[in-house]
This record gives sequence, structure tokens and C-alpha cells, in this order.
Amino acid sequence: MGIDASNDWILKETKFDPTALGKCEAIMCLGNGYMGLRSSTEERYVGEKRGLFIAGTYNRFDENEVCELPNAADVLEMDIKLNGQHFSLMQGTIEEYSRELNFCTGELHRYILWTAPDSNKYKLEFYRVVSLKNLHTIAQKINITPISADMEITVSTGINAQITNTGSQHFSEGPKRFYDRKYMQLVQTTTQSNIHFVFTTDVTFSENADTHIAMDRRKIFSVYKTKVAKNKCLTIQKITTIHTSRDRANENKTLDELQASALNELKAESTLGYDEILKISAAKWQELVWQSIPVTVQSSNPTDQLALRFAQYHLQIMAPAHDNRMNIGAKGFSGEGYKGHVFWDTEIFMLPYFIYSQPSVARNLEEYRYLSLPGAREKAKGNGYKGAQFPWESAWLTDGEVTPLYGAADIVTGLPIPILTGLIEIHISCDVCYGVWQYYMATGDEDFMERYGYEIIFDTAIFWASRLEEGNDGLLHINNVIGPDEYKDGIDDDAFTNYFARWNLHLAISYYDKLQGNLFFEKLDNKLKLSAQYDAWKEKAEKIYVPVSREDGVIPQNKTFLNLKEMDLTKYKNQTRVGTIYNDFNHDQINEIQVCKQADVLLLILLMEDAFTSQEKRANWDYYEPRTLHDSSLSLSTHSVLANDMGDYSLAYDLFVRACNIDMGSANMHSSDDGIHAASIGGIWQIAVLGFGGLRLVGDKLRLAPHLPDAWESLTFYAWLRGQKLKFDVTKTSANIENLTKTEAVTLEINGIEYIVEDMLETPI
Ligand code: BGC
Repeated sequence: MGIDASNDWILKETKFDPTALGKCEAIMCLGNGYMGLRSSTEERYVGEKRGLFIAGTYNRFDENEVCELPNAADVLEMDIKLNGQHFSLMQGTIEEYSRELNFCTGELHRYILWTAPDSNKYKLEFYRVVSLKNLHTIAQKINITPISADMEITVSTGINAQITNTGSQHFSEGPKRFYDRKYMQLVQTTTQSNIHFVFTTDVTFSENADTHIAMDRRKIFSVYKTKVAKNKCLTIQKITTIHTSRDRANENKTLDELQASALNELKAESTLGYDEILKISAAKWQELVWQSIPVTVQSSNPTDQLALRFAQYHLQIMAPAHDNRMNIGAKGFSGEGYKGHVFWDTEIFMLPYFIYSQPSVARNLEEYRYLSLPGAREKAKGNGYKGAQFPWESAWLTDGEVTPLYGAADIVTGLPIPILTGLIEIHISCDVCYGVWQYYMATGDEDFMERYGYEIIFDTAIFWASRLEEGNDGLLHINNVIGPDEYKDGIDDDAFTNYFARWNLHLAISYYDKLQGNLFFEKLDNKLKLSAQYDAWKEKAEKIYVPVSREDGVIPQNKTFLNLKEMDLTKYKNQTRVGTIYNDFNHDQINEIQVCKQADVLLLILLMEDAFTSQEKRANWDYYEPRTLHDSSLSLSTHSVLANDMGDYSLAYDLFVRACNIDMGSANMHSSDDGIHAASIGGIWQIAVLGFGGLRLVGDKLRLAPHLPDAWESLTFYAWLRGQKLKFDVTKTSANIENLTKTEAVTLEINGIEYIVEDMLETPI
């Protein structure tokens, strides 16, 4: 598509490309955390992937499939006939074209000057917004101007519930109805989770139109016919609301009540009209993001600023901030990819953004983990362990483990490859614990810890204590796992897992000691029988085997990794597509090669940076970077931040650009078809703020060690720390830190010197 960064607020497609529709649908997706709406066009095309996903509404199609976020009814579709001819960019001539997503306002705008096959010319403009203020509202405005002559225009539009998740129909058809010969309403209900979705819509025309109302299977729509004079603009507005019985406000309503309240709300929104809905929503964007926590960079490469806005935009729309029973899927709400499931991506890649930028959202995300503890306990029990074993992929709170069992084809056997992650990628339990602890360190939120956080830390420690196995060496091992690097499975003593399991146990021990005498702790002690396990934890934590560095400082990624065969990986390292190694080898063969899909030991080093010496960091960087293919989009940000730490500044910047290009770039026009890469987008922010900006929380200590790339003159960002909002202005030679809240001083280390920021601090770096 080619990014036009001439305006660093606007992601722009300059040419209609019918072979790559999925790309813009995903990267220009609209949303608000309640819903995600792929940016499909009003007219339909072969190859499109229309999608509307509502947070937390998982459904299981049948017992052979895992649950997924159902693809709800389509309200965008409009069949437009101009002088009797269907409007489609596959015919006629496109004289002028642009499609733009404006991050500042959250508005999508498409402009087309089109000559129809009958030689008549039209100007068409399509505007669309998903309100950030009223989370239930989608608003569309379409302007059509006939340029050649007076024209008859016919538009057919409504609510189309014939949509499926690539074939799986998750809904039963519910009531459909017209109210006042004007408002359309359609209900669809998920087949297994029994959630009602109520769609209500109102279409208005600026010219008088003959209206014909119609219903079809899983569909309600109206056909509007009108005559428009040459050079006169016909404006069509379509305002739609979506409510579900999963919404907290609707939990106790009958379906009739829900339909009635939805209709009332639609009427109110429709009275506002498109322009007002847009204005109110844009003001919310200012309030929540652009005026309060913008990341601003002065760079010789204008795409950098655009990419940072792209990241903040998507992070805002992927987070269900309204409801702590929901979390962020690996694709946000921008596609069917990964079925809307939640992974460790949340804690390790997206959570840092929310901890520093919107701590209340971060709290919600971790409350979700607390609320899903029953499923985690069940999973542990089912596997013969104690405590909480968090699902590798999770969905609704009570769903437990939802990882599918089979994936893509194995080129050698011709069979689907079994997916073992749900069974043995167990580091998720300490990732969740790490997320909780990070949140606590940054916010000091005792209330959260007492209600939720400590219980997660203790219960995951209980899991680890029960998961350890005694080896012949008298030490405790963790066998048969998958670490972060998913190119190795069924391995023993994975460094990442073992280090973090030990850390998780130590953390539980230290809080057990610290919390003695607190009333809430006594309750927790009784509930989880902590005192009875404490001595065993202490003993076990001392006996866990953690892979130690070789003499040269390299930490074995697992028990066997360093003995596997070496291979020239240049071909795969230089690829623009991920996973090309699978074109030559199957999974079992890849298991035998020293090749990593994604950051693994290096991620351990980044997350536990005070546990390793600088010699170890360097040795592992030199060893693992060349062996890592970055075949997961999660990988680049870790390597970029570490490259900066290692002083490999140009590589750090190259990796930043690559991370930005995963979704925004044009090298692979299909990589985002199934949705954006949420963790990579969290990673873009991490590279800028934690990497180049050098802001890091080590233990409970805040440290600033910025180093801007050559292309960057300055970087400005905001971070909340323990109730204080800090503004950081960083250049190549100086750092200005302002405490905007000023109710407490913040201690910060810069270049080994401790500073106390009560108000303002200016320092050379
Ligand atoms: C990665 C995992 C990640 C998942 C979802 C996989 O390709 O290897 O680490 O959690 O994608 O983003």
C-alpha cells in the first residue's frame, strides 16, 4: 500500500488494491475496546474479510472446536446503484482515490472520483467512526455527488447476520423488526454461550427517498431510491448501536427489555447525527490519549511519529477498559486470528504501556487474571498439580484452557501439526505473576494487591512447587515444556521457565514474610493453606535447577540447545515473510537445530536485568541474536531494546523500523489479514520509551538511561509512577523530567546518580 507519512497523524492508502483488502481492513480497524470493526468497504469484494467483534462474547461452535470471538452481523454493507449500475471499483475507472485513518479523531475517510462503465462520473466520500465515548455506536456518513448529469441513486443497506467465522456460524437467528417504518433491529444469539446481540440502526437521506423495507434470512434491510441533481451532494447517514446481554448494564434484562433500551439509545444517538458523534468521540481521543499521554518524536524519518501514533491508537482500541472480565486478544479485535484469545502477550508486551500510561486499564487487565483463577486452578488440578496454572490461551473467565489442538500442515507427514502450547507452554503462569508484580511496583496499588494480586502470586507459587520434579542430581527440574521460543518443544530445564519459576517462589516467600499479621493475609493463608506450604517453598526455591552460564557467559536456552546442530540461517534471517524455515523443514527437524523462533534467553535477560552481569548480557546477545529468526512478531521489540542497551544503536533502530513495518509496512501485504499484531504494537511503544527513552523499572527502582537513534532529535513521553504523572523530554544530550502531579517526590536514577523529582529536573545525559 505504501505508507504516506506526509501527515504524521494519518495512515493513508493511495491506491485501491483488490488483492490486499485484508491489510487495510485490519490496520485501519476502528474500535473502542468494547468492539472492533474491520475497515471493510461499504461495497463488497471477493477476498475481503468483514469483521465485527465484541469483547468477551466468546462462543464455542461445537465440541470439535475451541471457543472464539464470534464475527457479528455486518452493518457497514451498502449496495449502491448509480443510474442502475452497481458501484464497484472493479469496474469503470478510478480517477482519484484515497483511504485515510486519522488517528487524531479516529475517523476513517474514503474519497473516490469514479467514472462508471456508462461514462457517468461521480464523487463519493465515505466517512465512518466507532465512538470512543458511547461504546455501542458506529456512525457512517456517505456523500455521493453525480458530476455528469442528474442521476437516480438506489441504496440497499441494513443489518446482515449472514456473516460467519470463516464458515463457523456462531449465531442463531433471533427476532427482526422495523419500528416506526424507520428503525431496523435484528437480534442474533450465540449458539452455546447464549449471548444476545441486539443491532439497531437508522438510515437517513438528505433527499426524499422512496423506501422499501425488506427481510431475508438472517437479514433486515431497506432499499432507498432517490433522484439527485447534477453536482448536488446526496448525504446518507447510518447510525447503528450494538448491545449484548453480556454488557454489565444488560445482565438482568429480558430480551424484550434489552431490545427496548437499545432502540431508545439508538434514537438518542441518531438524533446527534454523524458530525456530532464524531466530534464527541474525537474529544474523547484528546482526553484519553492525545492530550494526556502522547509520545512525540522529532525524527528525520516521519514514519516514526506515524508509527508511534499507530501504536497508541491501536493500544487504545484493543483494550476492554470498560470491563475487567475481558482482556486483549493477540489480534486485538481486528480479526479472527488466534480466535480472540488472550496470551502472555498481554503481560509481557502490552501491559507495560498501560501500567505507565493508563494504570487503571492495567489494573483491569490483571483483575481479569484474578477472575480467571478458578479456570487456572482447574487446569492445575486436571494435570495433577496444585495451585493456579494459567491457560496458555484464555477466553471467557470460566473457559479455562482454550488452545486448539491442531494447526497448519506438516510438510513431511501431510497431517495437521499438533499444537502443544496449551499442554506444556507453562511459563504463562509466571508471566501473569510478573505482570501483577510489575503493576504493583509501578503503582504501589495496595488495594489491588490485597484484593487480587497477592492471591495470584501465592497461587502460582503453589503451582510451581507442585510442578517441580526431583532429578538424579538431587535438584528440582521442570521437564517437558515449551519456552518462549516455540521452535523447541518437549524440552527440559528451559532457562526462561526455570528462572521465572524460582523467582515466582521467592516472591511468594518474601510476601509471606512481609504480610504476617495482616488481617487479609490471615484469610488468604486459611484459604490457600499457605503456612503449611511455606517451609517446602523455601526448600524447593533453593533446590530449583537454573541453567547457569558457560564459561563464556552463554546461558543454555534449555538442557539440550547448545548441543543441537548449527546451520547457516542467513536465508531465513533475511526473509520478509515469517516461518519460511517450515518450507524446508518440519517441526521435528527444527527441534534439532540451534534456531530460535523468537526472543527467549534474551527476553529473560531483559525482564530480569539485575540478575545477570554485563558480560553475560553481551555473551548471550552475541550468541542468540544471530540464531533468532524473529518468526514471531513478539521478538523484534525485545531485540531492539537490548541492541540499544548493548550499544548496537543502528541495529536497535533497524529493528524498530522492522517492528513498525510488521503491520504498517508493504513488504508482506497479507501478514495482517487475520488482524494486527497486538504484542508487536505494544513493542513499538516499548522500544521508544523503555528502549530509546531508557525508562526502566528495575525491582522497585526507576531508572532513566536514554539513547536516541541518530534519526531522532528529541522524544517526549509521559509515565505514571506511584500516583505521580511524569513528563520526560529527552534529547541526545539532555533529559528534562517534570513531575506534573507534585503530590509526592519521585526518586529516579540517571547515570548511576539518584535524583529526587519534586517538581522539575534538568540534567545532561
Ligand atoms: C508466538 C507466541 C505468542 C502467540 C500469540 C506465537 O506465534 O510464538 O509467543 O504468544 O503467537 O501472539
